[in-house]
Order: sequence, then C-alpha cells, then structure tokens
Amino acid sequence: MENKYNFDEILNRKGTYSYKYDTLTKYFGRDDITPLWVADMEFRSPSCIKEVLQQYIDSDVYGYNVEPSELKPIIAYWLEKEHSWKVHSDSIVFIAGIVRGIGYVINYFTKPGDKIVIQSPVYHPFTNVPQGNGRIVLRNPLKDHKMDLDHLEKLLNENPDTKMIILCNPHNPGGYMWTREELISLAEICYSHQVLVLSDEIHSDLALWGNKNIPFASVSQKAADICITLGAPSKTFNIPGFAASFAVVTNLSLSKPFFDWLEINELCCPCIVASLAMMAAYTKGKPWRDAAVKYIEDNIFYLEDKFTNFKGKDGKQMILPIRPQSSYLVWLDCRPLLKVLAGKEALEIEDQSLLEDFFINKVGIALNSGIMFGDEGLGFMRLNAACPRSMLDFNL
Ligand SMILES: Cc1ncc(COP(=O)(O)O)c(C=O)c1O
Repeated sequence: MENKYNFDEILNRKGTYSYKYDTLTKYFGRDDITPLWVADMEFRSPSCIKEVLQQYIDSDVYGYNVEPSELKPIIAYWLEKEHSWKVHSDSIVFIAGIVRGIGYVINYFTKPGDKIVIQSPVYHPFTNVPQGNGRIVLRNPLKDHKMDLDHLEKLLNENPDTKMIILCNPHNPGGYMWTREELISLAEICYSHQVLVLSDEIHSDLALWGNKNIPFASVSQKAADICITLGAPSKTFNIPGFAASFAVVTNLSLSKPFFDWLEINELCCPCIVASLAMMAAYTKGKPWRDAAVKYIEDNIFYLEDKFTNFKGKDGKQMILPIRPQSSYLVWLDCRPLLKVLAGKEALEIEDQSLLEDFFINKVGIALNSGIMFGDEGLGFMRLNAACPRSMLDFNL
C-alpha cells in the first residue's frame, strides 16, 4: 500500500510560494534547515484530486460557478461514515478556510468586549482572531494535558459575560482527543452558562492507533444546541491551499440567521476548485488517507526511538514526545533539555529562545516554538511528522 503512494518521496517545494519553505529565512534566519513546522504534509495529495482538477483546467474556461448540489450531501455522508454523526445537508455551509470561519463566527455571534475562552496551549489563531476583533480572551489552561473543567466552571461563574469557548477537537498542539465524558461535561457547563461552543474539528479525520474522534455536537442535545462546528478535508488530504472547509450548525435558531448573513455577504460560495477537490477527496481519497495515517504512525514510533536515545549527563531523556492520538503534530516536552541549556531549574519565557536556537542552529530543523501556543508552551516545541521518514533523520 505504501509503495502505491510512495510517502518516502522527497518533494521539492522551495520557490513554489510554499509558506513552509519560502518563509524559512524570514522566521528562522536561514533556509538550509529541514522544515518540520507549518501543518501541511510533505506528501503528494491523493491523485483523485489532481485528476478532477486537471479535467477542469483542461476545459480552458474559468467562468462563474454554482455550488455543486452534491457537495453538502457528500460532506454529510463523510461525517456519518467517518464520525457516526448524522447531520442534514441543510445544516452545512461552505466556508473558505477554518481560521476565516473562526473570524466569521466570532464577528457574527459576539461583539467587541465580549469574553471568549480558549484552552491553552492551543493553536495561536484561537487567541489572535478574537483579540484582533476586540474580544477579550480568557484562558482555561489544560491541566496535565486534560481539560480543566473545574477551572472552566469557576471562570464562567466569575465572568458571566462570557459568550463563547473555542474548542480544539482534537487538540493542536498535543493531538489529544477528548473523551465522550469530557465533552458531555463541557456541554453541560457551557449550556448552563449560555456559552456557545465553536468546535474546530480540522484534525478529526486523522485519528491514529485506531482511535475514533467524537464530534462535540454529537454527544448530547445540549451540545448540539450550542455548537458551531468547523471541519475541512484540508489536513486529511493535504489540500489546505484550496481553502475548502465547512461549518455545521444543527440548531436552526443559530444556523438560519448565521447562514443568511454568510450568504448575503457571499462568504459561503465555494470556488469551483475547492468544491471539486473536496468532493473528490471525500468520495475517493479514503484509501490514501488510511495509508498516510499508517505511515505517520510509523514516523511517530521512529521519532520516539530517536528521542529515547537522546539523554543528558544524568542519563535521563532530554526530550519527551507526547504521542498524539490524532494527526501528525508531535508536542515535544523539551523542559529537561531547556533546563540544561539555561543552567537552571526555574524556566522563564525568555529562556525559550535557547531551545529555538538549539533546534535551528544545532539540529538544523525548523519547529514551531511552544510559546507560540501560549505561555503554557514554555519548554515545548511542535514537530510536524507528516513527511518522508528520511526528513526525520536529523542529528541530535
Ligand atoms: C486547529 C487548527 N485549525 C485551523 C487550522 C488552519 O485551517 P485553515 O487553513 O483552513 O484556516 C489549523 C492549521 O494548522 C489548525 O491546526
């Protein structure tokens, strides 16, 4: 199966306007390092996507398009088959990108000055988008990589003007998948405080080791009533460049006015390339996805072995990778290493640059710095393992 797809192939993406490659100098000061940062894959996307797009390109006419009538039923079918979540096509709306979707949802459902909870460390636009729109971000930091629901309840009691929580399901960074019990409890707390849940489920289709993702809105009626879900084939099939995503809102009193607003502002009309790619991916891409998941799992084992052998003078492991339950982002607990680099036990935010410098200039790899996801990421780095195994052959 792997041979069929050849995930070992090294692709040349330099000079292709690739964010991951062509901003290396800007963000890391050099471009001769292996990029293991931005969350796209170093794999060719499934050929079914190229085939359908090639047909379109070959038509030579690129006029206005309508949304294909099959698009939403195809998304609904995927959600039912993959996630046992039955939603009507009318509950789905196209959105050109998840971060854009977060912006739309925040702007539509909250107003400047409103409070929005995030569970840090978490994907940085969860902070930047609300703050950039004049909303106040409250942090409910994860505790031992789990949701701290007691603290959440306290936070909501102290801040009754909180309007929304942004859930990362599964979580980035860390790749945690929340349990049904956690999600049900979260729904109870949010429902009773009249807090909407914006659930970003972009990483849900890449569950590893036989795990199964649970869509937040599927866990209870209360969850469904307060939830706006965002999903996409972009991580799953390595097509983030097409900005093809969608929102699911099953509560009609939320979806009707929101979808009308999107419609009137033409924020939900897919570009034909996005529609075609999305439909091909969801109808024909599954065997590719399954093979990619297997390859990523093996990459993670490979990394775990590598880090096991990287020990300090005291014989203790210096980098502790947290095995993701879903997707290809590996959250590296580098605190033992950073303590050695900084020559002290109590770490401060300023010390993180030592870790960043270590990976850029000593190891020769570009990773995302943990503090990008919030101060709770001090001493951590995020590594993207969706690449040919040979790209993980860096020297520690
Ligand atoms: C949790 C999460 N949401 C959203 C995105 C980006 O989605 P988009 O490119 O569709 O805006 C990412 C990309 O890494 C992500 O990890």
